[in-house]
Amino acid sequence: MIVTIDGPAGAGKSTVASRLAERLGFRYLDTGAMYRALTWLAMQEALPLGDGDKLGALARVNQVELDESGRVSIAGTDVTAAIRQSRIDRMVPVVARHPEVREVMRERQRELAELGDAVIEGRDIGTVVCPDADVKVYLVADRTVREHRRQAERPDIGADALATDLRARDDSDRARMQPAEDAEVIDTSDLDVVNVVDRLEALVRSRFPRSGTRTRVDRSVPTDAGQSPSS
Ligand code: DC
Repeated sequence: MIVTIDGPAGAGKSTVASRLAERLGFRYLDTGAMYRALTWLAMQEALPLGDGDKLGALARVNQVELDESGRVSIAGTDVTAAIRQSRIDRMVPVVARHPEVREVMRERQRELAELGDAVIEGRDIGTVVCPDADVKVYLVADRTVREHRRQAERPDIGADALATDLRARDDSDRARMQPAEDAEVIDTSDLDVVNVVDRLEALVRSRFPRSGTRTRVDRSVPTDAGQSPSS
């Protein structure tokens, strides 16, 4: 079974998706971390971020590794903390918008989805990557709520800069941020994490009563296939 969780930055996707995966005993796949890791590597190698061909090629030869404990690596470097820096927040939409990059990422994401039983979060998962997913969710929240949530994660950034970044990211992500027609849209503005996860678990179980268990511990994707979690 595949559960997709899409939505804009700060809508609560990462926390909710990883906890839902844990409850169901499913793998958790953070597709944003894949775009972030590639952005980190491109900046490290001082590649021009406007060059889709170069970035697509970089993505093809440097597969992002996501392990079951949520660590993210690329090109042999653990970038778990580095990809959450504000310089990456600002540049990742520039990298993610190239069709050459998206093609490589989507191929990889589909391969991982084919391994089954996963909660996959991103922007285009229910619409493009896994249009046949069993349960699709689209999380939204008021912009001020999203700003506050981001501020808690990025205490080093001033409120004005953070608001400007979030707006720019929303604008840039918008083309990839439409809910799937069959997605359940949930506004998390007034809900805490447990509430949202409870709702999603109920949704999954109402549609698939025998889905998942709380007892499965190994959420990792087999190493020969590459990866699993984060964000
Ligand atoms: O969810 P996030 O903030 O970690 O995502 C980082 C960026 O990657 C965000 O600007 C949108 C982009 N992204 C995307 O274009 N498609 C996805 N499936 C996931 C993320």
